[in-house]
Amino acid sequence: MGEKIYYITTPIYYANAELHIGHAFTTLAADIMSRFQKSLGKEVWFLTGSDEHGQKVEQSAKLRGIQPIEHTNEIVKKFKELWDKLNISYNDFIRTTEERHKKTVQYVINKLYEKGDIYSDVYKGWYCTPCERFWTNKEVSEKICPDCKRPVEEIEEKNYFFRMSKYQQKLVDYIKSNPTFIQPEHRKNEVLGFLAKPLQDLCISRPKKRLSWGVEIPFDTDYVTYVWVDALTNYISAIGYPYDIDRFQKLWPANCHLVGKDILTTHAVYWSTLLFALELPLPVTIFAHGWWVVAGGKMSKSVGNVVNPLDLIEKYGLDPFRYYLFREMAFGYDANFSEEGFITRYNADLANDFGNLCHRTLSMIKKFRNGIVKKVAIKHTTSKEIENLATHVKAEFINSMQKYAFNEALQKVWDLINKLNKYIDESAPWTLAKNKDFEKLDEVFYTVIESIRFVANLLIPFMPQTMPKFLEQIGVSNQITQISELEWGQLSGEVKCQEPKPIFPRIDTGKLSSSISEAKNDNSKTNNLINNVEQGKITKNDLELEPKQYSITSETITYEDFMRIQLVVAVVQSAEKVEGADKLLKLQVNLGEETRQIVAGIAQYYKPEELIGKQIILVKNLKPAKIRGIESCGMLLATTTDDGKFTIITPEKPAQIGSRVK
Ligand code: MSP
Repeated sequence: MGEKIYYITTPIYYANAELHIGHAFTTLAADIMSRFQKSLGKEVWFLTGSDEHGQKVEQSAKLRGIQPIEHTNEIVKKFKELWDKLNISYNDFIRTTEERHKKTVQYVINKLYEKGDIYSDVYKGWYCTPCERFWTNKEVSEKICPDCKRPVEEIEEKNYFFRMSKYQQKLVDYIKSNPTFIQPEHRKNEVLGFLAKPLQDLCISRPKKRLSWGVEIPFDTDYVTYVWVDALTNYISAIGYPYDIDRFQKLWPANCHLVGKDILTTHAVYWSTLLFALELPLPVTIFAHGWWVVAGGKMSKSVGNVVNPLDLIEKYGLDPFRYYLFREMAFGYDANFSEEGFITRYNADLANDFGNLCHRTLSMIKKFRNGIVKKVAIKHTTSKEIENLATHVKAEFINSMQKYAFNEALQKVWDLINKLNKYIDESAPWTLAKNKDFEKLDEVFYTVIESIRFVANLLIPFMPQTMPKFLEQIGVSNQITQISELEWGQLSGEVKCQEPKPIFPRIDTGKLSSSISEAKNDNSKTNNLINNVEQGKITKNDLELEPKQYSITSETITYEDFMRIQLVVAVVQSAEKVEGADKLLKLQVNLGEETRQIVAGIAQYYKPEELIGKQIILVKNLKPAKIRGIESCGMLLATTTDDGKFTIITPEKPAQIGSRVK
């Protein structure tokens, strides 16, 4: 038997609404992981699909006056179109309405019934129609559903139950002895917290008189299967269980079920106990990522803040969108989506750090070496350091990816990119060319091009359309290398680089008309939101955040957002008045590694000589601007004192020049 195929799944999405960036995110995560695993030389099977049964679909179809299957056919077509537009490399798409799936669901239910793990009972409880689930007396207060906050009704009826409680202890033991089963760690703890309370048996049927759109219970045709038992079974029905056991064994257990945090319990508890009952192994990992929230709130149709991935792709291109989602969200935690945030990230990381690195390198190679890069032996320590870093970054990238820490993996690649930019600045190829030091010049170009080849190859799973273009520009389009085989020095003897063309052109924020940001900045919309919350039209649940505090009036930023602002301690070396401007002073400030010029509007409060030697806090990565025709590279921090004057913010005790303020 060959090596087990790496099997990864997404949730199967409800076929009752259009998909937004949240759904796109999970599917993209699975796509990136699939491409990454393939790049490690693994055979991969990637499954996604649609969850088509249940009350909501039945109701939507009824409202439209069509059959449920006609309704879901339309929605599924849109799902598939979206996946194509997002360049999703799925291998199979399972629909719960397919025969191959229904057959397996019925087999599973029969098997558990025969085993005595499914029994019938009269059930009395509070039923929530929108959530399609029962709640106990204790869980429901004031006849309101704890999940969706809508009214519940008391129902008494015969139903079928799965003995989930029987497997409670086994599951707790399993989770504890398999530390990577539920990831990330804090989600595992949540599940263990849930399992610390007695587990109820799971109601797995719905009487047809209430819901007919479902998979029939094989031993009682008055009932259909509860939508979650139906849906979860997709992970095994799609790979042949139990009818094609050879194929099934090549794929099962899944290496990873990727899910959002909203459906972790159903996966970690319902699905795991069902698998125990079926005597099948559990998936290697269930990874629950956080939510994309907009302006601090959950995306929802009623709030009107749903972000359609297609709008962004059309405006900015697919790969930047893929990059942004995975760079911005610390996997496992919530992240805030904003179009401004997207643009900032795009301009900083893609247009500036990486795009510009390639562009300026290629321009110099063209200018100084006729576009030719030669493979040379590395002699200088600074170049050797880059080589070592590239090899180290590759290893770290693999390590982070294997932990599903996509943002961390990208950060590692950017460590190399940033170092390369610095290496170019310090090596100053323009001076080497001027001094005709061609040996060193060739070494610098070779080092940078070889590193760009590394970067582009590592980034292919994230940006499969654009990274090959970079490889083409550096003349190594034939060198798309599996990550597992990527080694320093593979660049062939001599390569001819192409004319540099910007692949990530800078987005000019001045010219932008942003539909999303307009909506977000529109105060009347925000006020409506607040009114709606106050009037109870939107439940707090619709806006639920993690941690469970939310602000819809001001945008919160993550720690990472904050860290993108580089605040450093600098010292004023000289200061002088700007002629013809009462308020401005021109300062030369030293930040350790360099001296910069800034223009500050503080002339009314400080005499130039008072400032010499003063420590300031400088916003180091502020885009340079010309103020009254004078270049200003950064901004100092100041505030207003009690008497309405300005005061410069300065460290309480002398600080190290250049040290980061955070
Ligand atoms: N049909 C069930 C899943 C059955 S799997 C056996 C379902 N479908 S869903 O259409 O509601 O999709 C939920 C999934 O979509 C989440 O688990 C998550 O993967 C993704 N997301 C939906 N909204 C999201 C965000 N706002 N942010 C990130 N992902 C979210 O539940």
